[in-house]
Amino acid sequence: MAEPWTTTGATVWFTGLSGAGKTTISEILARNLREHDVRVEILDGDVVRENLSKGLGFSKEDRDINIRRIGFVCDLLSRNGVIAIAAAISPYREVRDEVRSNTTNFLEVYARCPIDVLSDRDVKGLYKKALAGEIKNFTGVSDPYEEPLNSELVVDTDRGTPEEYADRIVDALEEKGYLSRRPAPAAARHDEVPA
Ligand code: ADX
Repeated sequence: MAEPWTTTGATVWFTGLSGAGKTTISEILARNLREHDVRVEILDGDVVRENLSKGLGFSKEDRDINIRRIGFVCDLLSRNGVIAIAAAISPYREVRDEVRSNTTNFLEVYARCPIDVLSDRDVKGLYKKALAGEIKNFTGVSDPYEEPLNSELVVDTDRGTPEEYADRIVDALEEKGYLSRRPAPAAARHDEVPA
């Protein structure tokens, strides 16, 4: 185990189009934080839609419900000393901002990538289907994506590496005062029980 880091708990909220790298960066960030004894949970849109949000579709109403649910869980976690990482498209600004105002230590990261790069890459084969009209209301193709105006961090995921972005998020968490890379005083460490 590397030197432990301390955290107040926080929510790292990714927003961005499908395939922009939200999940990949989340997993690297989570691994790095866990390496330093930080408790982390990832709430990934694709996973949440299999349980907490099972049955929801992709209308604006359903997406907003999905985002509010993810935000609710992120708040529970982040106010209990966990770094909660949300990786959902979250295409609508208003509900993102609502979650921001209801969530402890919220840090928004916009995973930005041009749509032509995403449809060329098309890792899940969804852009091809969406462009052919086989998937309706597909974000960025036939459904809106409202870019954030005030993200704490924008990462242009067609330009660098996920490792680099994960490091920048750790820097941003530290700048905000949500994380400290200095060794914790022994008494403040959650793994130590007072005598
Ligand atoms: S959100 O809009 O409610 O935030 P979420 O991140 O949970 O979306 O789910 C997006 C994922 O669902 C995409 O990465 C893709 O795999 C899948 N998906 C299926 N249909 C759509 C659609 N119409 N628009 C966007 N993503 C879709």
